[in-house]
Amino acid sequence: MGDRRSLVVVSNRGPVSFARGPRGERIAQRGGGGLVTALRSLVLHHDVTWIASAMTDEDRAVVAENNGQALEEVARDGSPYRLRFVAHDPQAYDWSYNVVSNPMLWFLQHYLWALSSAPSIDHGLHNAWSEGYVPVNRAFADAVLDELDRDPGASVFFQDYQLYLAPRFVRDERPETRLAHFVHIPWPEADYWYVLPVGIRRAIHDGLLANDAVGFHTRRWARNFMRSGEDIVGAAADWARDSVGYEGRRVTITAAPISVDPTEFDELAQSRAVRDAGRTLSRRRPDKLIVRVDRTDPSKNIVRGFRAFELYLDAHPEMHKHVGMLALLDPSRQDIPEYAEYVGAIQREARRVNDRFQRGRWVPINLQISDNFPQAVAAYKDFDVLLVNAIFDGLNLVAKEAPLVNERDGVVILSENAGSHDELGDWVLSVNPFDVSGQADAIHAALTMPVEERRERLDAIRTWVREHDLAAWTEVQLQALDAEPLESRV
Ligand code: F6P
Repeated sequence: MGDRRSLVVVSNRGPVSFARGPRGERIAQRGGGGLVTALRSLVLHHDVTWIASAMTDEDRAVVAENNGQALEEVARDGSPYRLRFVAHDPQAYDWSYNVVSNPMLWFLQHYLWALSSAPSIDHGLHNAWSEGYVPVNRAFADAVLDELDRDPGASVFFQDYQLYLAPRFVRDERPETRLAHFVHIPWPEADYWYVLPVGIRRAIHDGLLANDAVGFHTRRWARNFMRSGEDIVGAAADWARDSVGYEGRRVTITAAPISVDPTEFDELAQSRAVRDAGRTLSRRRPDKLIVRVDRTDPSKNIVRGFRAFELYLDAHPEMHKHVGMLALLDPSRQDIPEYAEYVGAIQREARRVNDRFQRGRWVPINLQISDNFPQAVAAYKDFDVLLVNAIFDGLNLVAKEAPLVNERDGVVILSENAGSHDELGDWVLSVNPFDVSGQADAIHAALTMPVEERRERLDAIRTWVREHDLAAWTEVQLQALDAEPLESRV
């Protein structure tokens, strides 16, 4: 892992958030998710100050008690780190998160708009940009600058699409500081960025290119970024060196996927909470179980997944009463109308398919909308088929997590537009996310695959995930931070 170094990590959602317990006591809620898991390995090996948004009233109380300064925290594995919350202006944060980051940037980067009708970029959106996204990024940058005053030699590692402008604000004040950024979601093709007004699309590219290194999960997204950088701000892509020249600096572009902690999943799979959840699920288990685990996000393509299952049931009446789909969906971003409406669409579609086919005690789709991680891991252990049919997905960690703990020689059906398809493509059944009949065929192929082949594919996925763990990703990020920054010296 190399020498210990001082790192300032910046992400919108932090590794921990505070709330009040039943007796009024302060409790820490530790966040999960890919981003936090990936960064945890940094905390173990380096001196990290983690800057994140205050999300709850209790986080804000913590900020007030500490005069806005960082507090000493301890990660799950016992590693110490400093945690600094930024208490944004609530209105600015609402505009930044609920209008600009999600849905605008998220929808753009996952190609979710039907462009004949959306988006309409009006004064509201322009206002949300200048009075929301810009000041929120400025507040993050101010917190970073404050930390750099304390520790001028630290490097800064920004995360994701909520923070595209912060690197520029920091670079302007600290030209020598090493800055890196990792984008956890897809980067769309250059032309698609032209949906955004010129000032906004330029600011996004200029902000990211203020870093010394910009990382993506796959070459596909990295390539798109190098091209859009050329088109939108006149950056000079150097394809031989995987870098981009911009304003006299060389920005290293990396493609390295995050991974999971296999030991954590081995332990989780045996935990009491997961075993209890497994017992509950087994009461309704059909002979053959198709599982999907997602946030209720339009990019996850849940409605088309139900349609595919309907087509499968149409074509295979012999499987009625024997097969079921378990959809475990974590409600996400419900203050955003597009997301709230998507939950309605999911419920409608599940209901429609169930009403068509349901007989006696057999209900084809078991839809559970709740945040229940032990239940998700129990389903990971138990699937015959795992369906991951995302429209576009930066990586998709479910496709890595679930095979690790599966106990049924389950088959993974994976969208060719998920970043993890680059790694796992040889062993999954690949599907086009828009082709529902192709997905129905894949369900049939998975359910009729001989056990030897299923086992071989699953073992290959497991071996890959165990051998390509988070250490490799961390190494790439840190090496890129140390690459030569000035173009003239190259
Ligand atoms: O990787 C995409 C991402 O937005 C992360 O930044 C975030 O932790 C996760 O998805 C969940 O999204 P949210 O923080 O909006 O609930």
